Amino acid sequence: MSAKVVAIVGSYRRGGTIDSAVKIILEGARERGAQTHTVYLTEQHIEFCRNCRECMQTPGEQRGKCAQTDDLETMLQEIEAADAVVLGSPVNCYNVTAIFRRLMERLVGAAYWPWGQNAPRPRTKRRPRKAVLVASSAMPGFLIPLATGAARALRLTAGMLGAKPVGRLWIGLAASEPYHPLPPRTRVRARRLGWKLA
Ligand SMILES: Cc1cc2nc3c(=O)[nH]c(=O)nc-3n(C[C@H](O)[C@H](O)[C@H](O)COP(=O)(O)O)c2cc1C
Repeated sequence: MSAKVVAIVGSYRRGGTIDSAVKIILEGARERGAQTHTVYLTEQHIEFCRNCRECMQTPGEQRGKCAQTDDLETMLQEIEAADAVVLGSPVNCYNVTAIFRRLMERLVGAAYWPWGQNAPRPRTKRRPRKAVLVASSAMPGFLIPLATGAARALRLTAGMLGAKPVGRLWIGLAASEPYHPLPPRTRVRARRLGWKLA
């Protein structure tokens, strides 16, 4: 059976660095027989977390459901049915974008944190799916995990989605023109990451 790969794009732009890199990763996955789907966060109705923690009160391995009604539940069900995720965001103000962060905060039902307990505990250590993490920045790419919170945010998100990172793509020097073409080496790396997900 072919692997299913779902990409979450946290960029505000179509055709920008993140969108282009994610497209090539998915092309690579399809070359190896995977089925792919891209979710653009700009097109989703995702409310802000309200810190009510209702999703964290019931014990057990099953993720807690959010009390709000929007596009989140459908998105999570699609990811739970997938074998791999690609998580992509530009670095804005030293972290992932606000829309990506808004999604992150809505994923806390992955942990159990009843009132009276000081800190959340992950509900399970199982991570049945793979993840590729992608970020882009004006600064050189090697600085993304060193000087920004984006790598950590993407890793944390993968964990809350039950996914284990198998590859990372940090694309630096991506802001000297409005639409930056991906360097050939980056394109090759992106395609190879896609192969890993199939
Ligand atoms: C509001 C804003 C904040 C940004 N903050 C940073 C930053 O802190 N560090 C950095 O290296 N680049 C920063 N950038 C540059 C973006 O990372 C770069 O334009 C982006 O990676 C391009 O991705 P996209 O083509 O998918 O939009 C910022 C850009 C904007 C518009």
